[in-house]
Amino acid sequence: MTKTFPEHFLWGGATAANQFEGGWKEGGKGPSVSDVAKFTDPKEMKDLLDVHGLCDITDEQIKEALETNDEVFYPKRHGIDFYHHYKEDIALLAGMGFKVYRMSIAWSRIFPKGDEEVPNEEGLAFYDRVFDECLKYNMQPLVTMSHYEPPLYLATEYNGWYNRKTIDFFVRYVDVITKRYKDKVKYWLTFNEIDSIIRHPFMTGGLIESRFKKEQFEEVEYQAMHHQFVASALAVKITHENIPDAKVGCMLTKLTYYPYSCRPEDVLKERETMRQIYCYSDTQVYGEYPRYLLNMYKNKGFYIKMSEEDLRIMKDYPVDFISFSYYSSSCVAENEAGLTMTSGNTQTAIKNPYIPSSDWGWQIDPIGLRISLIDLYDRYRKPLFIVENGLGARDQIEEDGSINDDYRIDYLKKHMIQMYHAIKDDGVELMGYTTWAPIDLVSNSTNQMSKRYGFIYVDVDDYNRGSYKRIKKKSYDWYKKVIETNGESL
Ligand code: BG6
Repeated sequence: MTKTFPEHFLWGGATAANQFEGGWKEGGKGPSVSDVAKFTDPKEMKDLLDVHGLCDITDEQIKEALETNDEVFYPKRHGIDFYHHYKEDIALLAGMGFKVYRMSIAWSRIFPKGDEEVPNEEGLAFYDRVFDECLKYNMQPLVTMSHYEPPLYLATEYNGWYNRKTIDFFVRYVDVITKRYKDKVKYWLTFNEIDSIIRHPFMTGGLIESRFKKEQFEEVEYQAMHHQFVASALAVKITHENIPDAKVGCMLTKLTYYPYSCRPEDVLKERETMRQIYCYSDTQVYGEYPRYLLNMYKNKGFYIKMSEEDLRIMKDYPVDFISFSYYSSSCVAENEAGLTMTSGNTQTAIKNPYIPSSDWGWQIDPIGLRISLIDLYDRYRKPLFIVENGLGARDQIEEDGSINDDYRIDYLKKHMIQMYHAIKDDGVELMGYTTWAPIDLVSNSTNQMSKRYGFIYVDVDDYNRGSYKRIKKKSYDWYKKVIETNGESL
């Protein structure tokens, strides 16, 4: 069967500054929350389910982190040093024929502390160079405004997104970047995985949990999320004002759950869990809170401060498209007792006996991607964009220097075929697909380099040893062919 994708389908790959860019103290950049993310030595990692490092960082740990220039145990400080390799890296991406390259701007490179009135020109100039380089190859940048990169100062001095003032700081940042790059960037995402504030509140929301009473913290998270919803709507408004032909999307962690059995109790559990996943995109697409989320606030006795003006802003500026990450699926049941658990993207859930798992326990389910596309499209009737999908695996360099990552090709191919069916048979409107991540980078959840996703290998290990040399893997030419033939080679 010929699998041709729609004309102008945006094939590409995705990265994020905090895991990729390095140069954490260069060009006037201030530290971001990710720069204090400490690495757990893999030898000491007890359990794959215990890798969600950044949830409970304390002020003491932040202080300790800031006192050291260490990059071995703070690997997001070096990433893969895109800061100094951007020309080479962009040329490699362009070599695969990328139509689009998703990346993020490190907020603290533009506003080092976050609350300044004047942006850091050196930071702005860096992204000018990066975008110019992309455009040289006709590769459209797709830019995430905030991908786990709140300036650390906003976390320590303002309590991050819990503080309403952070909305104003973010709005200023958005205004600056959309004015500056108006001729270079047409595709924008506001917050990466806005829902993730519930799973890693420090990294997404700059919230230092130990500062709050334990029993109040969930309410704090939802208050911070409300501020992000308002900020996201304002970002849509400003971006459209500054760049009339821009498209602005939200970004959701598409966790996909199945009921463990057909017992009605398990099916209900699945519905409830999926509602929890959708409520974040519902809010940004429909511009209003779904009733079940408001009910949840009421039932839990939460008081989330939201003004009439906030709600009007949310209503007036919904997103143009919905983007999401998809890696795996898992199961839920009313009663988990006795069932095997496994890890997934910043969550743990019940293992599905019918599907395989990656080395990190993430369950591999290409059909789950098709189901996700159908569900999201039927729910929103707006264009979708898969902005993350890929396999984290350990790669081996052979004696002849080759890296034969057939497992990655297999994973991607199966997902792309399901994507094709979603477009062709299910009528889903899909703008594009960016794999996570075209070049190896530091893992978000485990901080490891050894969890590799790329078509391009980077010679650096978990202890920051290596030459940083880039080496094409077998999947490089494979993906190049997929793009060249617009999917026909699949
Ligand atoms: C996504 C994040 O949820 O998952 C990325 O947006 C992250 O930042 C990716 O890297 C893969 O997760 P991990 O933990 O394997 O790096």
